[in-house]
Amino acid sequence: MYLIGIDSSTTATKSLIIDGEGEIVAVGAAEYPFETPQPLWSEQHPDLWWDGTVQSMRAALEQSGIDPAEVGAVGVSGQMHGLVPLDEDGVPLRPAILWNDQRTGKQCDDMRLWLGKENLVRITGNDALAGFTAPKILWVKENEPEIYSRVRQILLPKDYVRYKLTGDYATDKAGAGGTSLLELATRDWSPTVLAALEIPPQFLPPTHEGTQVTGTISAQAAEATGLRAGTPVVGGGGDQSAQGMGVGAIEEGIVALTLGTSGVVFATANEPFYEPEGRLHAFPHALPDKWHLMGVMLSAAGSLRWHRDTLAPGVEFDDLVAPAADVPIGSEGLLFLPYLTGERTPHPDPFARGAFVGLTVRHGLAHMTRAVLEGVAFGLRDSFTLMEGVGLGEIRQVRVSGGGARSPLWRQILADVLGSELVTVNTTEGAAYGAALLAGVGAGVWPDGESACAATIRVTGSTTPKADAVAAYHEFYELYQGLYPALRATFDGVRQNED
Ligand code: XUL
Repeated sequence: MYLIGIDSSTTATKSLIIDGEGEIVAVGAAEYPFETPQPLWSEQHPDLWWDGTVQSMRAALEQSGIDPAEVGAVGVSGQMHGLVPLDEDGVPLRPAILWNDQRTGKQCDDMRLWLGKENLVRITGNDALAGFTAPKILWVKENEPEIYSRVRQILLPKDYVRYKLTGDYATDKAGAGGTSLLELATRDWSPTVLAALEIPPQFLPPTHEGTQVTGTISAQAAEATGLRAGTPVVGGGGDQSAQGMGVGAIEEGIVALTLGTSGVVFATANEPFYEPEGRLHAFPHALPDKWHLMGVMLSAAGSLRWHRDTLAPGVEFDDLVAPAADVPIGSEGLLFLPYLTGERTPHPDPFARGAFVGLTVRHGLAHMTRAVLEGVAFGLRDSFTLMEGVGLGEIRQVRVSGGGARSPLWRQILADVLGSELVTVNTTEGAAYGAALLAGVGAGVWPDGESACAATIRVTGSTTPKADAVAAYHEFYELYQGLYPALRATFDGVRQNED
């Protein structure tokens, strides 16, 4: 039997086929752009995801040469938080407003006012964040009343793909957690929040666990994609929970750290833990009876790319990073604050800025490179610090993935700053792989998520922290923690004088 995972992201849709042992059989991908029609806006037309699904699925099926009748189930994952408003015929009423759109500051303030921030965090696990779905619904209601009057259904991006595959409106509980409309403890829509925001409950699809079957491939979708009509489609998960599943971060004590453009710290919890001030995201996990906490740094490997492109254009990352190994811990008094695109965790501040602090004439490119690697590691440690404060048990292992994790120096700095063992795993297809494993549970290949991960995911390498470096970094981390409070007023000042 074969299993398929789809990951519909902001830049591409990927279709991944694995066999019943978890081996990768084929991967298809189709890329597309997103639009920024105004400052702070980020939009994409849902057709792009569906066209991307059709193309990538056809490519993967062709590459694999498998008989589609042997596909046991399909799992869907994708970018979280986006708003897809549909009319009574299931047609998108406007381009989707994406997770990285920042236009809804006012609506977030309104939500805090109407519900009380403490109450909102207690119910949903999260503060109102500009990227989340609920404030976007309020924005459309206020700014595009004609469109809002025609809304009959609201979906997340991944669930639009599901709708096109099956004809059914449905969502997964992990993805639904990112709307600000889900009750964390009960894992279902919150009547209190919906009433306070005057959002009709019938706009929202039923919620399912990631391993549950939500529908089957329709005849139309079969014709478009080459899949067999009737193939089950499982709940899957928002990209972060599917990624967690895809590297086996499904038990307390194991953290998934993804070092892509953004940096994500993802920790599984056996209870609906949340950070009372909402500085961490708290969502259901893709597996039943599990939740997860998450910290998001907006510019992680993105900081290193900016640094390279700006100060050493054209230089290969390996060549840029190598000299930084000879710079002492702490970069001889140079600190870097990685808020190049604002920040989410631990400071949910779209207007935070980056900084090098402590520059002297003694510092050169290698110092600045090391300071960037260290600054990102400190910023990620902030999420670990918050997680410890919430009562989550000891973190035993960090499973690192993403482009930045390819650098052994960066892995060592991270292990030393976090004071934790860092391991790499054999699976590299992230959310699509996790979605395929969830499909496998839905199809009965494995009895549960734990068995699926145990059968397919292996540790391939390990970086252990060095005691003296851990102690040294502890001091620098304290200095780093003082930077944002010290610079906040300056950030506001420079913003007001930007234009
Ligand atoms: C998660 C988040 C991103 C998006 C984009 O909170 O905002 O991971 O899902 O992929």
